[in-house]
Amino acid sequence: MNTKLHLHTAFQIDKVDPRIFGGFLEHMGRAVNDGIFNPDSSHADDMGCRKDVLAALKRLDFTTMRYPGGNFVSGYHWLDAVGPREQRPTVRDLAWQSIETNQFGSNEFLELARRMDWSPMLAVNLGTGTPEEARNWLEYCNIDGGSKWADLRREHGYEKPHDVRLWCLGNEMDGPWQIGHMPAEQYAILAQQTARMMKMCDPSVELVACGSCAPDLPTYLEWDRKVLEHVRNEVEYLSLHRYVGNPEDDTPDYLAVSNSIDRQIEATDAVCKSVYHTRKTKQRVYLSCDEWNVWYRARHGEHVNGRGKFAPHLLEEHYNLEDALVSGCFLNSFIRHADSVKIANLAQIVNVIAPIFTRGDDMMLQSIFYTFEMFSSRRNGVALRTSVEGPEYTSSTYGKVPYLDSSAILDGDKLSVFLVNRSLDQPMEVRVCLAGASVQSLVGAECVFGSDPKAANTFESPREVRSCPHDDVAVCRGEAVIALPPMSVYGGTFLLG
Ligand code: AHR
Repeated sequence: MNTKLHLHTAFQIDKVDPRIFGGFLEHMGRAVNDGIFNPDSSHADDMGCRKDVLAALKRLDFTTMRYPGGNFVSGYHWLDAVGPREQRPTVRDLAWQSIETNQFGSNEFLELARRMDWSPMLAVNLGTGTPEEARNWLEYCNIDGGSKWADLRREHGYEKPHDVRLWCLGNEMDGPWQIGHMPAEQYAILAQQTARMMKMCDPSVELVACGSCAPDLPTYLEWDRKVLEHVRNEVEYLSLHRYVGNPEDDTPDYLAVSNSIDRQIEATDAVCKSVYHTRKTKQRVYLSCDEWNVWYRARHGEHVNGRGKFAPHLLEEHYNLEDALVSGCFLNSFIRHADSVKIANLAQIVNVIAPIFTRGDDMMLQSIFYTFEMFSSRRNGVALRTSVEGPEYTSSTYGKVPYLDSSAILDGDKLSVFLVNRSLDQPMEVRVCLAGASVQSLVGAECVFGSDPKAANTFESPREVRSCPHDDVAVCRGEAVIALPPMSVYGGTFLLG
């Protein structure tokens, strides 16, 4: 199959916000407890965190890290998880029917974030919590001292403020499963009051309001409009979440889901823009895609019910090659929408729907790990508009798509292109037709590929799906021609002249 990828260095979308390479760590299953934090592990460092897991996370180079939930946050009281560890209560988490010992809390997370160079993104409890509880947490984290909550942090051994810039006003409050789920108008007023109190406490913070968490909910977009009517002058971002899957085992259809991811982003952005223009707001509200991933196998029954256990096996999704391609489609879509998507968080990072998986003291990297690493290591620059000229197919759910899904980032004299060949059996030759500059040479490229869409890494066979250097590229007369295997994700960087 021959495909042309048309690019022009002057056809720029916007700077790619590095925060679209964020992650999400929720207190559930074996994510925090066992995955990140396990003082009994032979890998434990001075904080009780697993050095092997942290080293793997370093490779993904996350920019922001959202914490502590997720559904968990809607019943969470931050005060339970600060101060002397022996005095912290063990509580019952209703969202995942689990036991939480609170041994890892705000200070531990924020210390870890500092060490990992993550910019923290904390979510406040608007399910059972109050605006005041949220504002107190902000004071605890960000204010130097001289008042109750700031002084409490100092008492707890953290003299300097943590300086948390980004805060989410609750989680998925439009979802009927959410603790404290409420109608849009009610959430909008609660979010507005919370935002005002938080900004009175620290005017420099940026806030994310809950938007629609799934396009198939009946309140989709209507919720967003109602919420923005109230909080449009108080928040900087509106969240959207997206989980996708292949329950029908129809791989071509699954790989075409990028159409629907694009539509969700564009429709939500249209609501933000419409409120901005009709209400003449101070600032435009941008998008925070603060939960995204493949999640469908471990989504029901015992996979979501901890049955009163501590660190139960929840949402332990095992990823394969087709999921690695879909991760590439998600990231391509965020880059293509660099003018509206400013934050995105891979949900999640360890064990729970995650690129990294542990079993006892062993660790394994899942297929999606390699896609994220490939993109994240080439993320700096400005997104370019891409136009694909090549064969297409019609998927049963998402309509017509080109076999090639793509995005491109220009960084001075370097161009990175990201390609997904969705064909199950056809290799593809992609000619990069660049105007405004010419391709001089290849700096480096890698590819994740394999013959079986269902190929997956296991502890027994951990290298089934991984990234390999890819030099099947010809650079000639200012153009690059890239040979892609069937079912592949490619990331390559070129030097321009
Ligand atoms: O990431 C798993 C769950 O998915 C989160 O807790 C929730 O926000 C979403 O429904």
